[in-house]
Amino acid sequence: MKRVAQGSRAAGKRPYVMPVGGSTPLGAVGYANAAMELCEQMDDFDTIVLATGSGGTQAGLLGGLALEGSEARVLGFSVGAPLERQRGKVLDILPGLAELLGVEVPKDAVIVDDQSVGPGYGVPTPEVKEALAMAASLEGLYLDPVYTGKSMAGLIRHARAGRGLHGRPEMGAGRGGVQHGDRRAALGQPVGHVGADAPRSDHEGVGAGLRGHRAGAATCSAAGSGAGRA
Ligand SMILES: Cc1ncc(COP(=O)(O)O)c(C=O)c1O
Repeated sequence: MKRVAQGSRAAGKRPYVMPVGGSTPLGAVGYANAAMELCEQMDDFDTIVLATGSGGTQAGLLGGLALEGSEARVLGFSVGAPLERQRGKVLDILPGLAELLGVEVPKDAVIVDDQSVGPGYGVPTPEVKEALAMAASLEGLYLDPVYTGKSMAGLIRHARAGRGLHGRPEMGAGRGGVQHGDRRAALGQPVGHVGADAPRSDHEGVGAGLRGHRAGAATCSAAGSGAGRA
């Protein structure tokens, strides 16, 4: 990419080189905006749970929450890297993001769990497969096995262990991915007809089902869909 960009510059053009995931400070601003939008829509949540890969999503969400003065945590389930390497990816983005947003995120706010990774990036573990089946059959929510499946598996693991659920809603942030199914498809019924019993949106469907477990979920895609990389 560098070579192509140099060639373009030499030809008088102005290329913008975007790294994997768009995870630069500028790219993370998209998720700072997403966090601010979440806070406008719902201020009473405890934790945002997400899959973390190249780190920009987690960094951006933390920046947006800091701007809002929110005390909510951001819990990133690593999709590939071991804990400290994954934290490092997020931490590397924070200084540049602080310059753009004018607000600092404390280093200890970067919380990563690497227990959902399994054999590696893109390889779903049995707990991920169970999470995919649970989300589809209970919520009509199709998660992907590379990102959102790993974060949902982590959320379920924490909930079963009684960890992290402080009696206030948890928020699952899924960047795009494959999540536009409805209950009928999940139940193996014909798709294409949205009946009165089907959720009008992913948000409504998930929120309605998980609230019983003191958890809510929302989807957001401020910086683009993850479907292309899944
Ligand atoms: C659905 C989904 N969740 C989370 C992520 C991780 O985001 P990041 O690479 O910014 O850590 C991605 C990345 O593509 C994704 O597609």
